Amino acid sequence: MNTIADNCFRPGDLWPDDRGVHINAHGGGVLFHGGRYYWFGEHKIAGEAGNEAHVGVHVYWSADLYHWQDAGIALAVSDDHASPITRGCILERPKVIFNPSTQKFVMWFHLEPKGAGYTGALSGVAVADHITGPYRFLTCFRPNAGVWPENVPAAARLPLSPAEAAHVAGLDLPGGPLPYYPKHLLFRRDFAGGQMARDMALFVDDDGAAYHLYASEANGTLHISRLSDDFLEPAGHYVRIFPGRFHEAPAMFKQQGRYFLISSGCTGWAANPARISVAENIFGPWEELGNPCLGSGKQIATTFKSQSTFVLPVHGRAEAFIFMADRWNPQDAIDGRYVWLPIEFHHGVPMFGWHDRWELSFFDK
Ligand code: GAL
Repeated sequence: MNTIADNCFRPGDLWPDDRGVHINAHGGGVLFHGGRYYWFGEHKIAGEAGNEAHVGVHVYWSADLYHWQDAGIALAVSDDHASPITRGCILERPKVIFNPSTQKFVMWFHLEPKGAGYTGALSGVAVADHITGPYRFLTCFRPNAGVWPENVPAAARLPLSPAEAAHVAGLDLPGGPLPYYPKHLLFRRDFAGGQMARDMALFVDDDGAAYHLYASEANGTLHISRLSDDFLEPAGHYVRIFPGRFHEAPAMFKQQGRYFLISSGCTGWAANPARISVAENIFGPWEELGNPCLGSGKQIATTFKSQSTFVLPVHGRAEAFIFMADRWNPQDAIDGRYVWLPIEFHHGVPMFGWHDRWELSFFDK
């Protein structure tokens, strides 16, 4: 085991921070700010208990992407049992963006209140004046209550009939009571109370507009939802994409004016094949292009034993993007590993293959 990081990426290996401790920032994302990269992610503890949040969101910073300094806990779970982020809740996939008008750092995350499994399907929001925190928890909710998706025709914007309501009662996870996925029912069921929101990402477009992407409708359908100008709440404009395709773990980026989305299938902690999708307009139409992994067999069937969490644009290099993924270890959550791989464009399609080790000079080619 290394105690100091090398001048290279070693996907799947232990990744020591500046103190020689394996980086603890799972389901993470990176924000480039003031000449440094900041990596935010779930701080996990040992054992299965680590699948719940006992500490909070950890942040590290780096100037070169290989060597990371521990900058502590950005958002701490609460000791107050009444807080939605009380210790023992599930707090996943935190992402941070900077709002230039308010000068605040805004964190969104997937939140499940303590003791209720994954039935909450809430989005949490926290804010800070300094990038490393402390972040102050603001609120949590199911997004877009009382708002219809923009790509649903007016004729379909209807509350459920009593018969439809009976069909979907209690259905909130795949594998629920119905033998099919009711893709025309769940967003209507959740219209009044807000849409379910689990795996999530944030994306800031070139024009400064920010978007929240989340796995909704019992994970079966992704939503892309515009944020308010201060990034603190939904702006009331959203679309449903890929209804019934069960995309999870969304990670969005933009290259040469086109929007790309890397995501996974829906198999919990177990790895499955990644998917790459493209759109000319962020609100669609979106097209699935297949599996972005280069290789064969188990490697591409499991996304190199990992699940997407973020696509990191390398600062100062127009065409350099890093696929960031988690190799989860739900039996010993703290030992989850990171799989970072360089994206290559083949006929305009982002793809990535396995490297035991690689360096940023990969992008010089
Ligand atoms: C995964 C998801 C993770 C976590 C896990 C729980 O599909 O991407 O963030 O929620 O399920 O089983």
